[in-house]
Amino acid sequence: MKVLVVGANGGTGRHILRMLGQSNDHQAVAMIRDITQSAKLEEFGISETVLADLEDEVDHAVEGCDAILFAAGSGSKTGPEKTITVDQEGAIKLIKAAENHGVKRFVMLSTVGADDPEYGSESMRHYFEAKKKADDVLRGSSLTYTIVRPGRLSYEAGIGKIRAAEKLDDYSGDIPREDVARVMIESLTLENTYGKAFEFLSGDNDIVKALKSL
Ligand SMILES: NC(=O)c1ccc[n+]([C@@H]2O[C@H](COP(=O)([O-])OP(=O)(O)OC[C@H]3O[C@@H](n4cnc5c(N)ncnc54)[C@H](OP(=O)(O)O)[C@@H]3O)[C@@H](O)[C@H]2O)c1
Repeated sequence: MKVLVVGANGGTGRHILRMLGQSNDHQAVAMIRDITQSAKLEEFGISETVLADLEDEVDHAVEGCDAILFAAGSGSKTGPEKTITVDQEGAIKLIKAAENHGVKRFVMLSTVGADDPEYGSESMRHYFEAKKKADDVLRGSSLTYTIVRPGRLSYEAGIGKIRAAEKLDDYSGDIPREDVARVMIESLTLENTYGKAFEFLSGDNDIVKALKSL
């Protein structure tokens, strides 16, 4: 599959690129918003990059792709307005562009709490609401979607093992970004994840086995 990686220069996005760079099954296109990032990303074996910003026009970025891995986000250092323009409206714009350009597959990096914005602290509610709106548009779209909802992300090395469920009953612990990247890539082709949203954190089950048992 030709896979557009959105948020390619981010913590999770870089793991995705490295893994896709080693894959015989997929060819990555790195979506970046700063051309100076492309030299660094070439180290991962990615030769194709496209310049696009989720706050601007994105149609040219999705053209010719079979799938989208959405790992972008405005982050915690920007204000609430960027949560709307990037995490919510940017994602929705990309979903619409995918529909208009015949991209069939969409894997969304969402978060625990996005199904129920009342969950968690008051300070997180605005973010959870924005993520839920984007997830809801994806669910209502014509795309074959998977919505992956990790708990707290870490920069630790991946362990390749998770616990996953439509709704976890225990949110303790965290999950390495490297394992989130693996979950997103495996979900691309694991039909058992199609049309599903699920939560996950580090656990005892091999990633593929855990995804197959959802
Ligand atoms: N942090 C957590 O504990 C947690 C938990 C659950 C889910 N999540 C979700 O996981 C996502 C990924 O997290 P991460 O830490 O791996 O990401 P990250 O390192 O913060 O990277 C985010 C990426 O999004 C890109 N981006 C930001 N604004 C953009 C725009 N307007 N247009 C295009 N790209 C844009 C950034 O581009 P630049 O490189 O150019 O800045 C960056 O590459 C988060 O955004 C969040 O939604 C996070």
